[in-house]
Amino acid sequence: MTAAVHLNVFADEAPMLSPSAPTSSDDDKQHELGQFLTPNPIAELMASLFEIHRNEVHLLDAGAGAGALSAALIGRLCRDARKPKRISVTAYEIDGAQIEPLRARLDGCRRECARASISFSATVLNEDFIAAAVPMVRDDLFASEAPRFNTAIINPPYRKIRSDSPTRLLLRSAGIETSNLYAGFVALVTRLLDKGAELVAITPRSFCNGPYFKPFREDFLEAMSLRRLHVFESRSAAFSGDAVLQENIIFHAVKGAPKPRQVIIASSSGEHGGTATERAVDFSEVVSPADAGQFIHLPADGQHQPARRAMQQLVTSLSVLGLSVSTGRVVDFRAKEFLREQPGRDTAPLIYPCHFNGGFVHWPKKKTRKPNAIVSNEQTRELLVPAGMYVLVKRFTAKEERRRIVACIYDSHQIHAPLVGFENHLNYFHVNGHGLPMALAKGLAAFLNSTVVDVYFRQFNGHTQVNATDLRSLNYPAKAKLEDLGRKITGRGLPQVELDSLVEDELF
Ligand SMILES: C[S@@+](CC[C@H](N)C(=O)[O-])C[C@H]1O[C@@H](n2cnc3c(N)ncnc32)[C@H](O)[C@@H]1O
Repeated sequence: MTAAVHLNVFADEAPMLSPSAPTSSDDDKQHELGQFLTPNPIAELMASLFEIHRNEVHLLDAGAGAGALSAALIGRLCRDARKPKRISVTAYEIDGAQIEPLRARLDGCRRECARASISFSATVLNEDFIAAAVPMVRDDLFASEAPRFNTAIINPPYRKIRSDSPTRLLLRSAGIETSNLYAGFVALVTRLLDKGAELVAITPRSFCNGPYFKPFREDFLEAMSLRRLHVFESRSAAFSGDAVLQENIIFHAVKGAPKPRQVIIASSSGEHGGTATERAVDFSEVVSPADAGQFIHLPADGQHQPARRAMQQLVTSLSVLGLSVSTGRVVDFRAKEFLREQPGRDTAPLIYPCHFNGGFVHWPKKKTRKPNAIVSNEQTRELLVPAGMYVLVKRFTAKEERRRIVACIYDSHQIHAPLVGFENHLNYFHVNGHGLPMALAKGLAAFLNSTVVDVYFRQFNGHTQVNATDLRSLNYPAKAKLEDLGRKITGRGLPQVELDSLVEDELF
């Protein structure tokens, strides 16, 4: 079932998440606090997603900033035909500079509630939410009794937390294992909710895949029943703290309810006048029961479903193909003294993404800001691999680049050198550290460059990074099929449509 709805929630030109108001002093503080305030149209969209009528609303807003989310929800409840009788809100905010605007916003809510004959109370806590909530969920003897909430709306701070940081250890003491603050917030909020409570959150999309977020996903999917996922097609740099351009996602989930049969997947452009489309998708299409990694897929439009079905036909793992994928071993700033602009007698080729050209490596480049070569000696031997045919995949693609997975072949029939270095911005497929047979390499590169793989990959990977673990988690065609495909690839730089139809004919 596909229904197109038009939600003109992006009525102004505001970016999806905007840096906090000038009350917050400087960029460093903003980064440290993961402070990106939600513009009103997004806050209203989030507020509109709550479904259950309650006479008493006990609302939690953790990392409340200036209160945009609570205000949007309370405003909506005041306008509802069936209003609640009472609303209590508890807002945690660590930044003292946000407390005054937060109180002022909640005072506005108080007046709005009075006009709607709703009894209202607000508790503003200028505290670290993690430090406050962990003892409550740990059931510590001397912790204050955990308040219970039946509603939560959050835009938690996004920041990496190092494995030895106090925050990480605190979360671990409550059985929460995560490397990012936002996931810690969601996990704690989930624990503070009553059975049947609703949560709407906006977060980076990174928790949907990858090994680091697996414990979080397991925990979250066990405790919560996912009802709706809303993705934004255009990306915002708001969450680009670690230089990985993140997509944001809004999700709506209900605590403790049985797993849903279907999940609504909605998407909108995130730009002025953005249009949203939505479709109901079987839960098993979103989280496959067969997937030990519990990836959350976002099959958002008509192109996604066929791509997912096609990829599900494939059952061969990389290890069955006898292949491995690794990240390029040459980290250039660590090997500075060995790098050379152009090749010489004592050097090996050094391959960067800038050497990709029409599906093959073009090397050396005459005019380049990157070195073309690395000295080949005892000290660099460990960084180099023997000559052969390797399939390379870029680890980072530019936001504007059409494709997320960009593969290319390094062919030592074209580049005559006994050893080669692959730089760290590349992943390379290999057979026990050696090259691949030619047909297999060509078939694999064509498969990876096909639209079907790209569309499928985007469903679970929301950023511009392609890691070796992502490539390991894919299923591949059988070896013979890849080899047949490879034998059909003769010319260079096949146009995408031709490559796609070749891949479709041979593999699907
Ligand atoms: C992404 S902003 C969102 C703010 C607000 N909810 C909104 O949507 O506009 C996250 C907020 O969490 C606050 N914050 C960061 N770490 C916190 C912590 N440990 N405890 C409480 N608040 C925190 C930041 O100061 C920031 O205001």
